[in-house]
Amino acid sequence: MAKVPHRLYLTEEQMPKQWYNLRADMKEQPDPILNPATFQPVTEEDLYPVFCEKLAHQELDGETRYIDIPEEIQDFYKMYRPSPLIRAYNLEKALDTPAKIYYKFEGNNTSGSHKLNSAIAQAYYAKEQGLKGLTTETGAGQWGTALAEACSYYHIPLTVYMVKCSYEQKPFRKSVIETFDASIIPSPSDTTNVGRAILKEHPDTTGSLGCAISEAVEKAVSTPGYKYVLGSVLNQVLLHQSIIGLESKIAMEMLDEYPDVVIGCAGGGSNLGGLIAPFMQDKLLGRANTRFIAVEPASCPSLTRGRYAYDFCDTGRVTPMARMYTLGCDFIPSANHAGGLRYHGMSPILSKLYHDGYMDAISVEQTKVFEAATFFAKQETILPAPESAHAIYGAMEEAKKCKETGEAKTILFGLTGTGYFDMMAYSAYLNKSMNDYIPTDEELEPGFAGLPKIPGIQE
Ligand SMILES: Cc1ncc(COP(=O)(O)O)c(C=O)c1O
Repeated sequence: MAKVPHRLYLTEEQMPKQWYNLRADMKEQPDPILNPATFQPVTEEDLYPVFCEKLAHQELDGETRYIDIPEEIQDFYKMYRPSPLIRAYNLEKALDTPAKIYYKFEGNNTSGSHKLNSAIAQAYYAKEQGLKGLTTETGAGQWGTALAEACSYYHIPLTVYMVKCSYEQKPFRKSVIETFDASIIPSPSDTTNVGRAILKEHPDTTGSLGCAISEAVEKAVSTPGYKYVLGSVLNQVLLHQSIIGLESKIAMEMLDEYPDVVIGCAGGGSNLGGLIAPFMQDKLLGRANTRFIAVEPASCPSLTRGRYAYDFCDTGRVTPMARMYTLGCDFIPSANHAGGLRYHGMSPILSKLYHDGYMDAISVEQTKVFEAATFFAKQETILPAPESAHAIYGAMEEAKKCKETGEAKTILFGLTGTGYFDMMAYSAYLNKSMNDYIPTDEELEPGFAGLPKIPGIQE
């Protein structure tokens, strides 16, 4: 057989024309999202004040297996996709492992990450519905940038609430987001009631995704013609991100390969959910037995130390409640540099799969993550985002195990983005001022104590 190329790109014709909805093949569906006022499952109409109608439909559609990607979105995708499937020859050599390591690199667009895959879809549906503007939150800044790119393409005004510590760590994110005509506000801010309340209670807070979501939702529902969009966690976002896994699977089939292990970093779960989707389908249908590993920060360990419970998706408790692995919506993570992984909960789809034993999870301290990131950068010449480096760490650990056992496993991991805006974090690692923070059980307790009480469901 011909040697596997370093980088494999599909042709435009080979690119997927449909997204894959993993829920259609799950043995049991994730528990329904609840309306916090009635404690009843939300209907599509309940979601209309916040979400665009087509997206509300996708959110609640657990049945349609394949959903056509509108042609306009396919054409936009072609500006930066297909993303390459890369064989990590140099990393394999440096680790002296018999494992074959592949990664799907999503960093080749201005947002520097996979986030554009869902941003363009959400902006497209907003335009189709004739909305006047959108609001959103951003953690690391990739999602805010991606949505700014997508909104500027469709001339939709956008307000981005950026988690304060990331805003301060990455001043140039602001410039990029403004280049695409969006406005950006560090969160918590005094521009919303919820922001003011959070600031009153925690004046020195560095913010969290949960706070920023509350502010963005409040801004959307209080501005006529505006809706809110979210870059992760939701079912619709995992649906759009399935493009990552679908392309990977086609490329691997062309190489006559199939992954024994698939690894991704997990913040709200969108890249991981998208990457694993078609491989998980095979597992659910009994066609393969791949192992799936979510890698999360030890400072914000929602899967590995969280509770599987109904919780709000935001700190201000304005969103519907989802059953997911959560640290409690009041949990404010430490200022871990992987801003995109500082979310208290996890996608309900991934939470359910993890709960039912289809997926494993590990957590890792940030100094180990940066050790893996710098090692990887030197072998493969890509400077990874700190979020993505969690997956690199996981893949390297698996490859090292293969060295011990002599197994030539095929490992696939998601390299979600580049880290050029994260140089303060890289500097902290290099000058040894970075420290690891792992919350104690006592520190996690208040978050759990604040989980909502739902009569008959969660007392
Ligand atoms: C580069 C990168 N990777 C991963 C993530 C984590 O998000 P998710 O778990 O939704 O893929 C983020 C989030 O901001 C990110 O910017």
